[in-house]
Amino acid sequence: MIEIREANLTDLPEITALFRNTITHINSKHYTENQIAVWASGADNEKKWKARIAKNYFIVAEQHNTIVGFAYLTQGNNLDGLFVHKDFQRQGIGAKLLRVIESQVIMTGYKEIKSDVSKTALPFFDDYYYEVEKKQLKHLKGEVFENYVIYKTL
Ligand SMILES: CC(C)(COP(=O)(O)OP(=O)(O)OC[C@H]1O[C@@H](n2cnc3c(N)ncnc32)[C@H](O)[C@@H]1OP(=O)(O)O)[C@@H](O)C(=O)NCCC(=O)NCCS
Repeated sequence: MIEIREANLTDLPEITALFRNTITHINSKHYTENQIAVWASGADNEKKWKARIAKNYFIVAEQHNTIVGFAYLTQGNNLDGLFVHKDFQRQGIGAKLLRVIESQVIMTGYKEIKSDVSKTALPFFDDYYYEVEKKQLKHLKGEVFENYVIYKTL
């Protein structure tokens, strides 16, 4: 049984560990070792994660008291993060989180949801009818990441 609930600050260690492990084990199929190290190091910025949880619509998927995925919105309709635990991939958790996120966007009055997504996640979003606006290069701590600006009309 997967339960979706809003995150709170006590979830912080589990969320950042999941972020780091998913990037290291899953996104590593599509990005270089250096890119993965830089991206995963984002888990160390506790202050930023605290603000993300406190200020945004931030949800977690939980199974038997373990966080198996999370997603959050910024600016009302920007999906800024969607990560599923490395050991729980392809079990429908990402789809469940996305459904709840899209419902929240609709409920707050937006007609569109948008996101910047990794090469890894593109096939997933394609399956849920997201359109690619453009491919882009994102600069982070000396590394250049290729990702995609996507959107969907709700
Ligand atoms: C992208 C991600 C969130 C998807 O989560 P998930 O729980 O594994 O996805 P689901 O099990 O809900 O997948 C639902 C459907 O999407 C499609 N899908 C998911 N991953 C896919 C993949 N890698 N390739 C092709 N289709 C995929 C499939 O149709 C799948 O249904 P199926 O398993 O019955 O075939 C997850 O792979 C992840 O955490 N990726 C790394 C982090 C990341 O890049 N996040 C994106 C923000 S940058």
